[in-house]
Amino acid sequence: HREAHLPAGGYSFDGLFPQWDLAQLQRGYQVYKEVCAACHSLHQLHFRNLADLGYTEEEVKAEAASWTVPGINPDTGEATTRPGLPTDRFPSPYPNSIAAAAANNNAIPPDLSLMTKARHHGTAYVYSLLTGYQEPSPELLAQFPDAAPGPGLHHNPYFANLNLAMAPPLTAAGQVTYADGTQATVRQMAADVAAFLTWTAEPTLVYRKQVGWIVMGFLLFATILAWLAKKQVWARAK
Ligand code: HEM
Repeated sequence: HREAHLPAGGYSFDGLFPQWDLAQLQRGYQVYKEVCAACHSLHQLHFRNLADLGYTEEEVKAEAASWTVPGINPDTGEATTRPGLPTDRFPSPYPNSIAAAAANNNAIPPDLSLMTKARHHGTAYVYSLLTGYQEPSPELLAQFPDAAPGPGLHHNPYFANLNLAMAPPLTAAGQVTYADGTQATVRQMAADVAAFLTWTAEPTLVYRKQVGWIVMGFLLFATILAWLAKKQVWARAK
């Protein structure tokens, strides 16, 4: 299917000298929280991990407490809910997969923690999927009449099946109000949440690439040392 693409300017974590853009990751978290979390879980992530995005301990506690997680009533032992703690995982929006499927035209919204790893060019894929909804082209329909979206499905050329059960989640500028004043265009929100989901899938991406340079430097150093040692060891051999 179609080649996925990048927002203008790309991402700070691309290339040989990557950095996380913490402001962008915070914006992406906001998009996840205010839009995607209505349907998608983020199970591999704990609230305490938000400290990596530059939030203070107090802010992490407050952020965790702004979510409702499943709990147990200590007196009765019955299931209940309580505000989140930093040690909690992000909660599922649905009690179980039956409820998730029932609410989404029989499709279960997948957990997004590792989505950018689960799909090829995952960051670009998420961005492209979110910005790529469109009517099926007449040429496509002429050749493949079955490509028309069925009831409750939405056409998106970036989705492998061409039609998916997720309605376009980002439809209007200003859907979220960014705390840092960034203009929340659809492309901006898509890029930010794609960046955030890249971080959830590989929080050590930047560290991994930095260590790569240190390893290369060490190998170069060790090679020069070995070459000098060899010269010295064999200096008197003719
Ligand atoms: C599927 C992202 C919001 C319901 C997906 C997929 C991604 C995604 C990456 C998987 C596509 C694949 O399997 O390759 C997002 C993001 C959102 C968002 C980043 C927020 C910006 C929502 C919302 C809903 C929803 C609000 C429910 C109202 C679904 C469903 C599927 C899905 C039902 C499964 C579609 C199918 O397999 O046909 N989403 N989503 N999503 N999403 Fe979302």
